[in-house]
Amino acid sequence: MDVDHVSEVGQVGRVLWNHRMWWQQAPFVHHRLDWEALEPEAAAWLRGLDDDQLQALDEGALPLHPVLAPVRAAAEAMSRVPVLERHPVDGLSPFWHRGVKGRKLGQVQAFLATVDGVLAHGDGPVVEWCSGVGHLGRLAAWTHERPGLLLEKDPALCRPYVGRGVEVPAIPVEHRCVDVLEDDVHHMVPEAGAILGLHACGRLSDRLAEVGHRSGARVLAFSPCCSHRRFSSAPWQAMSEAGRATGLQLDDMALRLSVLDVGPSPGRRVERRRIQRIHRVAADLLAREATGVDAYHGFASVPRPWSDLPMGEFIERIRARHDWPVPDDWDPDELLRRATTLDRQMRALGVVRGWFRRPLERFLVQDRAAWLQEQGWQVRMGTFCERSLTPRNLMVVAHRA
Ligand SMILES: C[S@@+](CC[C@H](N)C(=O)[O-])C[C@H]1O[C@@H](n2cnc3c(N)ncnc32)[C@H](O)[C@@H]1O
Repeated sequence: MDVDHVSEVGQVGRVLWNHRMWWQQAPFVHHRLDWEALEPEAAAWLRGLDDDQLQALDEGALPLHPVLAPVRAAAEAMSRVPVLERHPVDGLSPFWHRGVKGRKLGQVQAFLATVDGVLAHGDGPVVEWCSGVGHLGRLAAWTHERPGLLLEKDPALCRPYVGRGVEVPAIPVEHRCVDVLEDDVHHMVPEAGAILGLHACGRLSDRLAEVGHRSGARVLAFSPCCSHRRFSSAPWQAMSEAGRATGLQLDDMALRLSVLDVGPSPGRRVERRRIQRIHRVAADLLAREATGVDAYHGFASVPRPWSDLPMGEFIERIRARHDWPVPDDWDPDELLRRATTLDRQMRALGVVRGWFRRPLERFLVQDRAAWLQEQGWQVRMGTFCERSLTPRNLMVVAHRA
């Protein structure tokens, strides 16, 4: 029995809408969030956490303030998605390790294992959407012994496969340099074909679904990423009627939140990021005070060694490089103390906002699933691999009913 994505997207969307005060405003951009005035005790509790407590909060190990416990429970309930069934794919081992490396290899293997069964719903060519160098499309074509077509915009990536001494199967695979946002791209999709898209950014995934539906494709499978990449100045809107009916409006900050987790980082990098954040918070604090404008003041990335500079010297360099506004009188030690405290408080508020990251991502992916279901397709949505392979592990798999 297929999941009813239309009602599920409605449910996730309603929960997001009802809890929007917890995720719409981003800490660091806003030093005081609107919800803090409505729930001052919960806000004071978060702002009073020390580093160890904050880490425990982040890991879900800290008993929560009573106002926050149901908020996290609601977000967690909306974060659960099924694991899609996978059939391990054999027969391609000579090719796996040629040019496909590390986590990308794991992602391609998991993707192919997930679509293995559904590809039987069509017998036409396999199309890889926004293929990059085209590992997925080639391996799919070879595994299923069907012609392959790789669609990619960047000419530098549309290059022939180098077998490096391994004889490749005699299956034709064409790499076509094309912009899939162009109007006539649906004419390129072969009859009874399957369109596969691994990590098609934002609007490119919407487009895969639209073009797939409009063309004669029988099977669509895609894992969206980078939801904020819209390739257009038009505001985001849900694809499905069910998604639109929730009334959710996602701005750039919300779309970015949906893909904010970038997977685990080594401890060294975590510490460097902490110092870089504190430097930014400090510079922003000074600029707000100097200008009287209580809005985020950011600067482009700075040379890496600047992370090792003492606060006073760092600010002087930023001042020289960006003509940075600074009040007449400021004390580097006091600034460091204030920035460190503010950074901790903003991160604590950010943990609460982060509870809604996965529900937002699920909403965005399930909205495409619901749209396809509304058009009459049979659709599954769930994870196709572990998060350690890629945090963007949600996938839509559809075939014409
Ligand atoms: C995140 S990468 C994914 C590449 C590949 N599927 C993979 O997983 O390795 C997104 C790809 O989409 C391509 N792309 C971006 N805009 C495009 C467009 N309008 N038409 C076709 N390809 C596009 C980019 O050049 C890039 O190769």
